Amino acid sequence: MARPHVIVLGNEKGGTGKSTICMHIAMHFLANGCKVGTVDVDARQGTLTRYINNRLKYQQTKQASIAAPQHFSVHKSNLNEPESAKKEEQSSFDLAMQKLSDHDFILIDTPGNDTFLSRLAHSHADTIITPLNDSFVDLDMLVRVDEDNLSPSLYSEMVWEQRKARMMRDKRSIDWIVMRNRLTNLYSHNRGKVEDVLVSLAKRIGFRLATGFNERVIFRELFVSGLTLLDFELMDKSLTISHVTAKQELRDLVGMIKVN
Ligand SMILES: Nc1ncnc2c1ncn2[C@@H]1O[C@H](COP(=O)(O)OP(=O)(O)OP(=O)(O)O)[C@@H](O)[C@H]1O
Ligand SMILES: [Mg+2]
Repeated sequence: MARPHVIVLGNEKGGTGKSTICMHIAMHFLANGCKVGTVDVDARQGTLTRYINNRLKYQQTKQASIAAPQHFSVHKSNLNEPESAKKEEQSSFDLAMQKLSDHDFILIDTPGNDTFLSRLAHSHADTIITPLNDSFVDLDMLVRVDEDNLSPSLYSEMVWEQRKARMMRDKRSIDWIVMRNRLTNLYSHNRGKVEDVLVSLAKRIGFRLATGFNERVIFRELFVSGLTLLDFELMDKSLTISHVTAKQELRDLVGMIKVN
């Protein structure tokens, strides 16, 4: 591979699973023998950073030989003057990317709101992955759904701008994958409606729709230990169909990433 493939997890809506999925994709590539770096541009919340630190703690306390990505946390500048703040953030980001330039994959986790660092990260993506929960509230970040009218909304417009920025910088395009996360059977009527809207929008807004992940308790339990679905043998649990299916969902998602 000539240069790292950059995957950005993004959605201006909070709590849709960006950090959890970012960690799982990183661990998937590591488990497949790739050199993987991670960057947290949501350093204020720092979920990905803490997830990885929990993993390093697990390594130490249990003396377990488990792999972890090389990780950088890029902080928001404290400077008051906006242009100087942007410059400082840009150089911290560039430094992290440069240090990871000999890696196969760089996974970037972004915050659930619009920041300079998040936009910058998106403009460096080869692949953007946007998880959203299965509701019209989440859908609203992609598209404004009125009675009989659909128009691109905030996040889609931001992705569009970053696609242009990327094209101007190095003539490369950004592939965009949208996936639903935390799917349940409880709201299957709503689920069908959200799916219909997403399918009809995919071409128009320019994303590919992944099948997505089901709601699974295990995702919420894993964070504290720093483990992922791929570390099942280290867990004090017996393997269930749900875990096998969850791993398959992860493989299906990763299989959609077009590595150049
Ligand atoms: N498929 C899933 N099943 C069950 N729980 C999940 C699933 N995916 C994520 N979660 C849980 O949902 C919560 C939010 O996930 P996460 O922190 O990854 O979202 P986020 O998009 O990064 O949030 P933020 O925008 O605040 O950064 C966490 O408690 C996580 O464990
Ligand atoms: Mg997060």
